[in-house]
Amino acid sequence: MKIAILSDIHEGLNRKRTQNEIMAVLNKWMETNRPDVFMISGDMTAGPDKSLALLNKLQNDFAKTKILFVHGNHDVYYEDSKVANEKLLQFPGNLGNGPVELNEDWVVIGDGGWYDYSFQIEGYTEEQFRIGTFNDFTWPDKQYAHWPGSDGEETDRYVEKLENWLKEYHGKNIIMVTHVVPFKKYLQLKGDPSWDFFNAMMGSERFGELALKYGVKKYIFGHIHTRYHEHYNGIEIICNPLGYYPHEWHHQTAEEEIFSAIKVIEI
Ligand SMILES: [Fe+2]
Ligand SMILES: [Fe+2]
Repeated sequence: MKIAILSDIHEGLNRKRTQNEIMAVLNKWMETNRPDVFMISGDMTAGPDKSLALLNKLQNDFAKTKILFVHGNHDVYYEDSKVANEKLLQFPGNLGNGPVELNEDWVVIGDGGWYDYSFQIEGYTEEQFRIGTFNDFTWPDKQYAHWPGSDGEETDRYVEKLENWLKEYHGKNIIMVTHVVPFKKYLQLKGDPSWDFFNAMMGSERFGELALKYGVKKYIFGHIHTRYHEHYNGIEIICNPLGYYPHEWHHQTAEEEIFSAIKVIEI
């Protein structure tokens, strides 16, 4: 079974910046490669309505490929992120609806997740992370995502939900997926507080703890726009974002970048 993996497509922003139809490029890749599963681990574009429309179109265009999705922070940019999340759950392949059994051995368990400042650097208060401003830059989620609970409460909600599913499937080969980062190892510590401060908003070590506790075989995430594929703590780790054009891209054209970025694994 071929599983294609990509996150952080940021369709709107990359389409505008590159003047290229990102989804047409993705479709072209799909036509030639036809994976059994396509895992999109968050930040499809900004806002739930657009993300949902893109996901539905992709699934309709490629009925034989199972499109799986977890929401990213950008997908829930909306006046009420809870409502945004509910809209995104209308997509059948949204893992927030429940685990997806790929075959007798493998199950995919995931949801977008959120952050609880457990990746914070020292020297700042909870309140400073809640406000999310360093010098003149404010973390965009603070302006565009509006959850009913605090960041910590929303993270708790995801941890609880994921743990219930992990318990249920304990013993199976589990692929765990979140948009946010599960292990501190995958943060970039630059020694520059104007960057490192925002690591607090990258994820939660609690997702990593769950992965270890329930012995997941593979962990797929995104959010941090750096690509990783390695083994860590006995888990195959895959973080495979497209990221923002131009500074996070390695090629000049959308086709070269997208075609080279998409990772395919076999189970
Ligand atoms: Fe992103
Ligand atoms: Fe993100």
